[in-house]
Amino acid sequence: MKPKGAGAVSRRAQEITPFLVMDILERAKELESRGRHIVHLEIGEPDFDTPQVVKDAAYRAMAAGETQYTHSQGLIELREALCRHYLEKYGVRLSPEQFIVTSGTSPAMILIFAALVDSGDEVVLSDPHYACYPNFLRLVDARPHYVRVLEEEGFQFRPEELKPHLTARTKAIIINSPANPTGTLLTGERLAQLAGLGPYIVSDEIYHGLVYEGKEHSILEYTDRAFVINGFSKLYAMTGWRLGYVIAPDDFVRPMQKLMQNFFISANAFVQRAGIAALTQAGPEVERRRAIFNERRRFLLAGLERLGFHIPVPPTGAFYVFVNARHLSENSYTLAFDILEQAGVGVTPGIDFGAGGEGYLRLSYANSMENLAEALGRLKAYLERRPRA
Ligand SMILES: Cc1ncc(COP(=O)(O)O)c(C=O)c1O
Repeated sequence: MKPKGAGAVSRRAQEITPFLVMDILERAKELESRGRHIVHLEIGEPDFDTPQVVKDAAYRAMAAGETQYTHSQGLIELREALCRHYLEKYGVRLSPEQFIVTSGTSPAMILIFAALVDSGDEVVLSDPHYACYPNFLRLVDARPHYVRVLEEEGFQFRPEELKPHLTARTKAIIINSPANPTGTLLTGERLAQLAGLGPYIVSDEIYHGLVYEGKEHSILEYTDRAFVINGFSKLYAMTGWRLGYVIAPDDFVRPMQKLMQNFFISANAFVQRAGIAALTQAGPEVERRRAIFNERRRFLLAGLERLGFHIPVPPTGAFYVFVNARHLSENSYTLAFDILEQAGVGVTPGIDFGAGGEGYLRLSYANSMENLAEALGRLKAYLERRPRA
């Protein structure tokens, strides 16, 4: 007998884990619909609107009839602008042929893993890590291999400790700097060491440009055996536009282009034009916003320290603070819900980012200073009310 209903759902689809932050968000919305005021520090997107120059470019492109498919690798003008960006920012000389423009970095990950791994291959990732990575691997029947990373190390890999984790089946190591959920960076030295370990590096550089201390480096400064994924969502406040890209080693471009042609055809034409405007004209606005993010970062860090949260390696990039809340509860999921219900503050449970994130909470400072101050005040009152353990 053939299985019916839920039993007929593929094993692959059943293994995809939910994004827990959505549970918090949905409950928060429910409370708001009943009149409660919630401060949202759970969300991973800029609170800013897309810069006007970017919107204007999209309007112009749409009015000029740029509403059709583009080259499957993306508009050549966008890829050329990206090449100039990599040369100016990182001193890395690339060819437009190495780029595939996608509708956000998420499809870019599908292209990479579909082209790189076979069923049963392993991919190394840190624990904690961005919540969706393991699910991209499950989609292609690859095995995520987790390596615990420590708070004292800013939750970033120590390259020498990775060696025992590498096997004949290890195809790639995923890195993310600045990282979600921790906001920490890998140094150039560590990047160089990771590049020398052997497997391909898949470097998620989506938070590049949102760095407040030190400097971010692209993996391509150290090796060309790497895939870079990056996009416009975070730096240019364009989450809803869906624009990203992958830079691939030469041998992989054609296989990935074929995947792109079949599964996605091309990214949106007028959104690609907007991307060119973002790269070439939005610089001053992005700089202004970066300064605002930095001010909020300092404010939130100082406020959390005052509330008794210790943060050994302060985040210097992205817009997240990942705090150890074990002194409050070992269960980050119930704690996040309790904070939402009792204090009216949305935070993301650390368990969303892997077993290594349990006991932690992620707070986003992609929110106004007023809201951050309000959230800290509510958390203070919540902690004072809580029965002591
Ligand atoms: C580390 C990381 N990579 C990728 C993404 C997905 O970004 P996109 O909007 O480009 O699909 C996110 C979104 O939160 C992220 O935090």
